[in-house]
Amino acid sequence: EPEALEAAFQAKVDAEQRIEPKDWMPEKYRQTLIRQMSQHAHSEVVGMLPEGNWLTRAPSLKRKAILMAKIQDEGGHGLYLYSAAETLGISRDEMFEQLHSGKAKYSTIFNYPTLSWADIGAIGWLVDGAAIVNQIALCRCSYGPYARAMIRICKEESFHQRQGYEIMMTMAQGTKEQREMAQDALNRWWWPTLMMFGPHDRESAHSGQSMKWKIKRQSNDDLRQKFIDATVPQAEFLGLRIPDDKLKWNEERGHYDFGEIDWEEFRSVVNGNGLCNRERLQARVDAHDGGRWVREAALAHAAKKEARKVE
Ligand code: 3HC
Repeated sequence: EPEALEAAFQAKVDAEQRIEPKDWMPEKYRQTLIRQMSQHAHSEVVGMLPEGNWLTRAPSLKRKAILMAKIQDEGGHGLYLYSAAETLGISRDEMFEQLHSGKAKYSTIFNYPTLSWADIGAIGWLVDGAAIVNQIALCRCSYGPYARAMIRICKEESFHQRQGYEIMMTMAQGTKEQREMAQDALNRWWWPTLMMFGPHDRESAHSGQSMKWKIKRQSNDDLRQKFIDATVPQAEFLGLRIPDDKLKWNEERGHYDFGEIDWEEFRSVVNGNGLCNRERLQARVDAHDGGRWVREAALAHAAKKEARKVE
């Protein structure tokens, strides 16, 4: 009966045992993972677009090669995560349909424009930095395929973060114009990066249950605080100013106090009214339509190969 199954499942989770695709799991556990993992995959794939804008504009061949490698990594992270989500019974086509129809979410951070080359540095340093903080925790997620995908992704993410910080270092130590570009990028990317960690714990719809199921190992606010505490000294080292007048070390707490996030902006971007939401979704739909002939050719080729085996 269901109560016994639920109790046995929760005991496994409490004992830090990994849940694997073929194990019994509560339907809501399955649905929560499909929601989070597919939206994580969508974030990776949509996340390729802001950086793609600077591939043809990179200031040197070296920077272009590094950016190309990073964007290809993000695409690969998306594929790992779509594959991991498929183990829960949802098809890739269904996930794409949910993204393209606007039903599924992806991280708000990717709805902001990349206005200068310094944005590419700020994205690597801040956005990938925040993603690492979040994804390190997810390496201990109770669902096996998700946790294992995270371990590989985190290794590649640290290269993303370091190359971004190196761009910011180069510009912060460059000409006056370069320093101003780096500061402008920090001004525009700081607060949207804090929104990547989700609403405050007290407003988070899913945190309670996700913590119980050990999908979420640390709360939104704890991970956000961890990111801020690690990043403020890095900004100081760059000689750049974080755009928050309330940012201040609190000896008692052993953490930085910081100002209030603009949750109106967060809600508006989540609801599709950010600066680039329509453009990002249109780019994804166009890429999917444009790639239809490749998918059909690959499927036809596979079917022919299959048929030949049977003869
Ligand atoms: N953007 C869009 N939606 C967000 C969001 C954000 N920044 N933060 C929260 N939300 C959504 C949640 O998805 C949820 O909506 P839903 O029920 O329709 O899915 C709602 O706001 C309530 O938030 P909760 O905190 O209650 O939801 P979660 O428990 O799912 O926590 C999360 C939110 C911390 C983002 C969690 O889903 C998570 O850890 N996801 C995996 C990591 C991820 O998706 N990172 C996104 C960036 S990936 C990336 O940066 C790639 C890197 O290589 C650049």
